[in-house]
Amino acid sequence: MSEVHFRFTFKLFMERILQVISFLKMKEVLVVYGTCSGNAELVAQAIAEGLSDANLNVSVKRSELVKAEIVKDFRLIVLVCSTWNVGKLNDNYIQFDKDFREMNLKDHYVGIVGLGDSSNYDIFCGAADVMELSVERTSATQLGESLRVDGPPHGRLMEFKDWGNNIGNMYLQHV
Ligand SMILES: Cc1cc2nc3c(=O)[nH]c(=O)nc-3n(C[C@H](O)[C@H](O)[C@H](O)COP(=O)(O)O)c2cc1C
Repeated sequence: MSEVHFRFTFKLFMERILQVISFLKMKEVLVVYGTCSGNAELVAQAIAEGLSDANLNVSVKRSELVKAEIVKDFRLIVLVCSTWNVGKLNDNYIQFDKDFREMNLKDHYVGIVGLGDSSNYDIFCGAADVMELSVERTSATQLGESLRVDGPPHGRLMEFKDWGNNIGNMYLQHV
């Protein structure tokens, strides 16, 4: 093997090692939620319970209080956001989404949860549509179908806990 060839192979090998180390250093699940009047927070907490029941280590953060780069430290990211302003992401989540969509998250898994209200608004749960596009841009793998919560979530928390549990189990089958 020539020296040039050796150096090239060694460089590739070291890059792969660094990639594996950073993957192993990743924590498990991050749930990020954006809310205006608290509903997305309730849903996020119920989902986190379901994920914990799948024996995953879960952190829950408010979108406006974290930098989007934090997601790089987690293998599974669950995004939860309500729809406001005619089918759009709510204001507290917009900056997070702007930064999130610019990242490369090829080795990461994502679950998506939008909230909306089809009986009062023409564009139902547009937040989920916007998040789907953002996730696609990052090259992350979306697990399952996006959950679209229609109307007030109170009294239906078991449903969201089960959804979280399913996503957790789907994730465990991938890793
Ligand atoms: C001012 C306002 C605008 C809304 N716009 C939409 C909308 O365009 N589409 C939709 O499906 N739901 C819409 N909703 C419903 C909210 O998404 C729904 O009530 C959600 O549960 C609120 O969650 P949050 O408390 O986490 O913000 C709107 C609600 C309000 C108060």
